[in-house]
Amino acid sequence: MNDFTGDVTGPVIQVGEFKGVVNLAAAGREPLRPRQLPAPATLVNRTDTLAELDRLRPDPDGPGVTAVLSGPPGIGKTTVALHWAHRRHGDFPDGQLYADLRGHAPVEPALPADVLGGFLRALGVPFDRIPVELGERAALYRSMSADRRVLVVLDDALSAAQVTPLLPASPGSLALVTSRWRLTGLLARGARGIRIGPLGADAALRLLDLVVGGERLGREPDHARRLAELCAGSPLALTVAAARL
Ligand SMILES: Nc1ncnc2c1ncn2[C@@H]1O[C@H](COP(=O)(O)OP(=O)(O)O)[C@@H](O)[C@H]1O
Ligand SMILES: [Mg+2]
Repeated sequence: MNDFTGDVTGPVIQVGEFKGVVNLAAAGREPLRPRQLPAPATLVNRTDTLAELDRLRPDPDGPGVTAVLSGPPGIGKTTVALHWAHRRHGDFPDGQLYADLRGHAPVEPALPADVLGGFLRALGVPFDRIPVELGERAALYRSMSADRRVLVVLDDALSAAQVTPLLPASPGSLALVTSRWRLTGLLARGARGIRIGPLGADAALRLLDLVVGGERLGREPDHARRLAELCAGSPLALTVAAARL
């Protein structure tokens, strides 16, 4: 008599008498394809920036690419990054990772070790297999991302040091970083820097139009133009001002 009880998480073989060869193959598990991108807001203009990002599309046989979108608060860095990421997610079939690094939030900036913990879980590493130490987490992340084409959006970064452990290792992957700073430490390592500036006058009016409705702008064109000028092309200022009209 040979009973087997209990939970089974791997292969179990019970034989009385056996001749021949047994091949044990791990049960095939579908790789996880995280899709963590938050939904983007409506985008006015920014065709130049989107085109510049398009030109960065990584070569599947070359090194991974990093782009840094920089500019002042409220200029539209997050909006452009998420827009482009959604448009291009098909180029990154193994997943899209997103982290808010809280570089300028009222709460503490995100710790790279915590972000890596989340990324590793999203890529299928069980909770109890995630190393404690930052360097080991980063090494496992590089191993996990080495054969995958992933897009990693790192929003509102504080420094190059915060971002570096989060960059994927593989060719064909792309990290899109947004920051108030140019993050020269990343540029020095080959990242592409893209500045985001104010919206032009026409785009500013289109944004106002989106928020308050074209009918009203049509009735008060001078006021609308004056308001757009006062907001100096800042999308945040324009949306806040329009919401108060
Ligand atoms: N090009 C744009 N078209 C429409 N709305 C925009 C645009 N850029 C930014 N916004 C709006 O302006 C606000 C600030 O944009 P956000 O991307 O959060 O700025 P940043 O990340 O640079 O601080 C958001 O409410 C966003 O929806
Ligand atoms: Mg932002």
